Amino acid sequence: MSNVFPSQHPLVAHKVTRLRNKETKSKKFRELVREISALLAYEATADLDIAPREIETPLATTTGAELKQPIGLIPILRSGLGMVEGIWSLMPAAQVWHIGLYRDERTLQPVEYYNKLPLEPTVSVCLVLDPMLATGGSAVATVDILKKWGVVNIKFVGIIAAPEGVKAMQDAHPDVPLHLAAIDDHLNGDGYIVPGLGDAGDRQFGTG
Ligand code: URA
Repeated sequence: MSNVFPSQHPLVAHKVTRLRNKETKSKKFRELVREISALLAYEATADLDIAPREIETPLATTTGAELKQPIGLIPILRSGLGMVEGIWSLMPAAQVWHIGLYRDERTLQPVEYYNKLPLEPTVSVCLVLDPMLATGGSAVATVDILKKWGVVNIKFVGIIAAPEGVKAMQDAHPDVPLHLAAIDDHLNGDGYIVPGLGDAGDRQFGTG
């Protein structure tokens, strides 16, 4: 699988195991989502462009670096919301643009219900955030929206993926790298990832 990057980091593996545990309560669950997201974003942004930047230290002039491109964080509502804060703490200048999609019960296709993107793109790198890459329908539709908006450099950051979701993204958007904590066994008949962690939205927001 090219362009698929399951994290090899021991901290990620440790934290995802705690996240999966059904005994983990909402507060801890949210902390873990925040921490894992930051670790994954650190890996996902390793190839960002930098430009030289001259500064004065208290002792001398030196040439350092600064990020060249404006970054957008695109949480898919609602589960993606919990991924924003940890990543934002690493890149506080990032813009956050929310995308809301739901699955039509009849057609099973994602339907857009929230999108306030301005006409012209205001960022040149986008990190699409969704903790669960299940069927891949929402992720594919979100990347479609961002490409239509005019963004070329798009990365997906998710915590747990099903092979079905990975395939859907690779078929539709092979240019978009997938940065994941784990790829699980399968999707069950109700659309849940197995072994997974249950409903990521309910577990974050205490609504389950
Ligand atoms: N969304 C979730 O929250 N959990 C899954 O297992 C699949 C989709």
